[in-house]
Amino acid sequence: MAKIIGGIGTSHIPAIGKAIHEGLQAEPYWKPFFDGYPPVHDWLATARPDVVVLFYNDHGLNFFLDKMPTFAVGAAAQYASADEGWGIPAQPPVGGEPALSWQLINTLVEREFDIVSCQEMLVDHACTLPLKLLWPQGEWPVTIVPVCINTVQFPLPKASRVYALGKAVGEAVATWGEDRRVLFVASGGLSHQLDGTRAGHINKRFDLQFMDSLLTNPEWATQFSVHEIVEKAGTQGVELLMWLAMRAALTAAGPSVRKVHANYHLPISNTATALMALETA
Ligand code: DHB
Ligand code: FE
Repeated sequence: MAKIIGGIGTSHIPAIGKAIHEGLQAEPYWKPFFDGYPPVHDWLATARPDVVVLFYNDHGLNFFLDKMPTFAVGAAAQYASADEGWGIPAQPPVGGEPALSWQLINTLVEREFDIVSCQEMLVDHACTLPLKLLWPQGEWPVTIVPVCINTVQFPLPKASRVYALGKAVGEAVATWGEDRRVLFVASGGLSHQLDGTRAGHINKRFDLQFMDSLLTNPEWATQFSVHEIVEKAGTQGVELLMWLAMRAALTAAGPSVRKVHANYHLPISNTATALMALETA
């Protein structure tokens, strides 16, 4: 049977890709951000995941505003990236895990989540940067199953619905008959707002409360409506829904998790960055 080994939440700001490309990790602006990752690299070296189920939000590369699924699951053998500006090279494609994709798709539809299944799927910075941050040495040692949650065009799914989706994804993985080690990754957040009169909005108090809730009371954020989350965390801060899905997925492995490591640093670009690695019992 598959084994759920843990979950990692990380920010995915596009400027990180440029900083990696230009080797700026030790610069004063970037160091407090990149310094968060080595303890997680150490944990990954012992935890040895084979497959990552990656909760992320596409920002207009694969799904544009004319066709916007609320939830989409990748079922491709490979996921290619594409240019996202800055003039830096696109990441090499990452391998998929179609058997696990179909396990998720079949389970989710059976559980009345009417997801879109994607046998071709381009992935943007929200998918590639977490991989690059977690495995900076180059070749990806994992395959992925991307699970895309709409946080770019209203109406967005409610936090309680995202939690339920994450729980169902966790149960689909836990009942997968393959002997593989599975890691959940959440890409996004934390608080940030890129546009409008509140551009630059950051809410450290709420972010830290949210991170703490993942350890002490995982369903805490489900009390909030999407508009309340926008009010607290910013229009793009709703990306924290990915973290909520990741934490809900871990419940399939047991009631509690252990914090391996966390880091919080602001700002990078317009965003309060966060990193958190959780291990199942
Ligand atoms: C920024 C943050 C994001 O989450 C994103 O998708 C794009 C840009 C930023 O802070 O620059
Ligand atoms: Fe984003």
